[in-house]
Amino acid sequence: MTFISPSILSADFASLGEEVRAIDAAGADWIHIDVMDGHFVPNLTIGPAVVKALRSHSSKPFDVHLMISPIDHFLDAFAEAGADIITVHPEAGPHLHRTVQRIKGLGKKAGVSLNPATPAKMLDYVLEEIDLVLVMSVNPGFGGQKFIASQLRKIEAIAKQAAKQGLTIDIEVDGGIDPVTARQAIDAGATALVAGTAAFKGGPDHYRANIAALRGGQ
Ligand code: DX5
Ligand code: ZN
Repeated sequence: MTFISPSILSADFASLGEEVRAIDAAGADWIHIDVMDGHFVPNLTIGPAVVKALRSHSSKPFDVHLMISPIDHFLDAFAEAGADIITVHPEAGPHLHRTVQRIKGLGKKAGVSLNPATPAKMLDYVLEEIDLVLVMSVNPGFGGQKFIASQLRKIEAIAKQAAKQGLTIDIEVDGGIDPVTARQAIDAGATALVAGTAAFKGGPDHYRANIAALRGGQ
């Protein structure tokens, strides 16, 4: 089973509630919400008020990817807004272990995201504390970028390490995922796929087929 987490960054922002309902009905497992601050990444998106407003439009887990720095003082707001998985970047704050503990203390699943140049080694002392690793297969900030193939090796290394430690952890991949790269990521050990462009292309009539294509007929 691979979780498909469509990124609403590629949805129609003028109709976000309807878009979330449509992608949920089309078979999304999670809803990926990209939060950007114009500082940690060169783009600005949405904040906790929008997450809260969307909450009533889907009962699927909200997979909230925080690309904001400093990070800690926003964790409570996203938890209260209805996030289920809260994912942070190690570079976004000075104390990753503390940040992870705070997310878990709020009763949420904790994820750590690695940029393309950030090594898997960064996880050495937190892997057993977290629920999910989000491997960025593009540099964060924008949808529609090209998949960086070197990240497949990182997925393999994390999957191997998690197995060695006997951990059940989701490995999610984010950026440039289409039916071809989805297959490569799954073969490398990914258990969850984020897709913006590939999930939302063509509008609501295509969402079901788009998601099915990412699953590759599984
Ligand atoms: C990029 C975001 C991604 C983005 C993926 O910073 O984290 O979630 O929406 O978009 P695609 O699937 O178009 O690469
Ligand atoms: Zn994302």
